[in-house]
Amino acid sequence: MEVERDQTVSSPTVPIVDLSNLDKELVARAVVKASQEWGVFQVVNHEIPKELIQSLKKVGTHFFELSSEAEKEAVATPANSKDIQGYVTNSQQDVEDKVDRVDHLFHNLSPPSSIDYRYWPKNPPEYRQVNEEYARQAKKLAEKILGWLSEGLGLDREALFNQGFGGGKKAVYTMKINYYPPCRPQANLVLGMQPHTDIHGLTILVPNEIPGLQVFKDDQWFDVEYNPSIINILMGDPIWMSNGKYKNVLHRTTLNTEKTRMSWVVLLKPPYDMVIEPLMKHTGDGDEAPKFKPITYGEHVERKVRDKLQKRS
Ligand code: SIN
Ligand code: FE2
Repeated sequence: MEVERDQTVSSPTVPIVDLSNLDKELVARAVVKASQEWGVFQVVNHEIPKELIQSLKKVGTHFFELSSEAEKEAVATPANSKDIQGYVTNSQQDVEDKVDRVDHLFHNLSPPSSIDYRYWPKNPPEYRQVNEEYARQAKKLAEKILGWLSEGLGLDREALFNQGFGGGKKAVYTMKINYYPPCRPQANLVLGMQPHTDIHGLTILVPNEIPGLQVFKDDQWFDVEYNPSIINILMGDPIWMSNGKYKNVLHRTTLNTEKTRMSWVVLLKPPYDMVIEPLMKHTGDGDEAPKFKPITYGEHVERKVRDKLQKRS
């Protein structure tokens, strides 16, 4: 797919927004519209260097494909840990199970107080530097997008990031690498990840070239196109702060019969004690009743994890 510079284009499926468009109002409007209608969009000319994304994929692929079991074990999530950080393997589950069939590695990227380097692979040696640089870039992108989304709600640019996510000192950015080995022979019966909306607030996602991500809109699933210049942005549950103006998009992933699919996801979440509630009270617009009850982010996570476990049993 060719995407020209200086043009904000809508594809018949997930909207594509060209961030290099000089008309920033147009960019902001496109981001807001896509978030209202889809809860997902793709950005091009996002200023994250292509080479950096390639390096990110290379070091992550190295961990999943070339590390020894001992190296994986070294960063595994400890049993019964409340912390989600670390490596977990779920990909070899029974194909009949309605569970996520994916291995993953989680580690926090920011703020510095949340980082635990025990969960960062030691190999390849450049893993850390590449992830740190990508984190800097992804944060810039997330905050730019939240600025447009705030203004789209009639709020100050910083409102969503500061009041919704806790601002630079508290907002937590986490890297999640998903690894979906091929699945045969009943791949079309099996999902890599079951349909879900994201527990965290904003998702910045780059996959490898194997298709698989699908999003739900107007009663149908849409494939999310792959293009190496594209970064996918998805809204998660805490976007309730918009009082329902922006959608938390339902999505899932399929498995490939021959090839391994991977995705690199930077997720942005509020601190656990942050109350998620519609922010529109800050607009002074007294007419709009809040559509969601306040809940702390921690309570939301607990509730969602509990519901997921109940569905399985
Ligand atoms: C996810 O929903 O966390 C993963 C999506 C993907 O692998 O593309
Ligand atoms: Fe997700």
